[in-house]
Amino acid sequence: MSPSLAQLYAENRLLVFGHRGAKDDAPMNTLPAFELALQQGADGVELDVQLTKDGYPVIVHDFTIDHTTNGSGQVADKTLAELRELDAGSWFGEAFRGTRIPTLDEVFEAVGQHLIINVEIKSKSLKSTGCEQVVANRIAQFSLQSRVLVSSFDPLALRRFCRIMPEVPIGFLYAETSPRWLSILMLGFKYEARHPHYSMVDADFMTNAKTHGYHVHTWTVNDIEEARKMRDLGVEILITDRPGVIRQALYG
Ligand code: G3P
Ligand code: MG
Repeated sequence: MSPSLAQLYAENRLLVFGHRGAKDDAPMNTLPAFELALQQGADGVELDVQLTKDGYPVIVHDFTIDHTTNGSGQVADKTLAELRELDAGSWFGEAFRGTRIPTLDEVFEAVGQHLIINVEIKSKSLKSTGCEQVVANRIAQFSLQSRVLVSSFDPLALRRFCRIMPEVPIGFLYAETSPRWLSILMLGFKYEARHPHYSMVDADFMTNAKTHGYHVHTWTVNDIEEARKMRDLGVEILITDRPGVIRQALYG
């Protein structure tokens, strides 16, 4: 098994995570994209999870399947069996024809022992779909507590997840465009990592985060000079669509 997240932090270097896998080189959020990120030398991957109509955790970014499959409609209105019928690869390239939407279980099975996995819980309302409980169940089933972190733009999803599985680190996602009230919902909640959009990260941001004891993980950095800047500022995880290129630029 590769190092745990705690062991990787202890290496004191900028860790490179593939955004939705190796998103530039394979269809996002599919097994080929995650396996390619591993081959490209990523330390981890970020993925987006939501529940099917029948309660299975599937890896899809948008709330609809229109842009990344040959189907259409809302993920939450489809059963797993219906989603499995779809081609989630040929929109990206002929070589990926027949690629399926993966479940969280399949990703854990394929790369969970080799990569750290940042599970981003997608949420479109402040009401729970039950996704937090399902994600926690799968993490426990695969004994991946030391190899995952859970992030979301939704503070209530993070609070719910933390109540279920407090030993897994939490990352709060935000951008300059995020509504202020979302940050207010995080007040008084002790969590481990800030996940700002990279445009928000500068020396003052880092000083503030470090003073308050937060890890800083940023997204989505595809430019080599920007990646070096994040490294020099002391960011700990960089989420990128090009893990191979960024890793090569940082570490040769
Ligand atoms: O977790 C970082 C990033 O994935 C957040 O935005 O829309 O790409 O899921 P999005
Ligand atoms: Mg995401």
